[in-house]
Amino acid sequence: MLEKIENILSSASSKIKAVKDLAQLGDIRVKYLGKNGEITALLKSLKNYPSQERPTAGKYINELRQKVEKLILDTENELSRIQKERKLKEEEIDVTLSKASLMRGGLHPITLAKNELVNAFIGLGYDVQEGPEIETDFYNFQQLNVPKDHPARDMQDTFYITDHILLRTQTSSVQARTMEVSKPPIRMICPGKVYRSDDDATHSPMFHQMEGLVVDKGIDICDLKGSLDEIAKSFFGKGIRTRLRPSYFPFTEPSVELDVSCFNCNGNGCRLCKGTGWIEVLGAGIVNPVVLEYSGIDSKVYSGFAFGVGIERCAMLKYGIPDMRFLFENDIRFLRQYK
Ligand code: DAH
Repeated sequence: MLEKIENILSSASSKIKAVKDLAQLGDIRVKYLGKNGEITALLKSLKNYPSQERPTAGKYINELRQKVEKLILDTENELSRIQKERKLKEEEIDVTLSKASLMRGGLHPITLAKNELVNAFIGLGYDVQEGPEIETDFYNFQQLNVPKDHPARDMQDTFYITDHILLRTQTSSVQARTMEVSKPPIRMICPGKVYRSDDDATHSPMFHQMEGLVVDKGIDICDLKGSLDEIAKSFFGKGIRTRLRPSYFPFTEPSVELDVSCFNCNGNGCRLCKGTGWIEVLGAGIVNPVVLEYSGIDSKVYSGFAFGVGIERCAMLKYGIPDMRFLFENDIRFLRQYK
């Protein structure tokens, strides 16, 4: 009996030691401890023993069963540990590996220039207004002292939708709209899209302007010059100088153009300023009293100044962009430079 127990123990332990995986271990458990297993059979055979030997024999067989069970359990734990480790290794993630970088968007150079101008004017106390891009002839021209057949209409090649409705050619239309509904003092800017039938390196059929209008008592050309000088310095750089040159617009009298000293050559003359030392940036003037009256503002009490600046032109000058079409082609290599 004891010999049999010894034999089972040694054969079971050598088989358990040789086991490679949990499935094989399961087979061994069945072989020894299963319903028809060898140790189970031994226990069943107890009833054939003489009754005085049974307790001792039973004790030995139970010890054998416990030993084999323990061997199987230990091996099972060891195999699961190895299996888990292998799995972890297989699924290892290198957290130090740098991830593919995300491409971040940025603001378009026109938006950058517009925001900068708008912020500068807000700093001087201006309100920001908006107006429709599909506009009437009335607000785009007539209220601005440009009646039908006025030669000044030739200055702006207009997209007409009907005889009376057009794509606004200038944000000046918002001057007329603002004066009609607000009482002085007025201090506003209006950035927005405008449209003209024009297309080359310095013109685009759609471009952006920013209109400005100040109406109050006692406004004169010094206010215009001082305000624009302030804005030009904040946009182009503290070191620049400005000058006003006579010009003509039907809605201002007198009319001027504002030049800034060339920030590229400091006014000495270069390719950017075509050797003149000055760069033309915007049109402006003292609001024509007729325009005030059209909008119901008493021109004997109030006066004002107005200006209109091309945002693309400002962006091109500031960022050194040689061709306006770059701004609209949306080539990511170009845009990425101005984030
Ligand atoms: N609207 C003019 C243009 O598009 C620019 C301009 C000039 C606007 C003088 C003004 C102004 O308000 O006073 O060419």
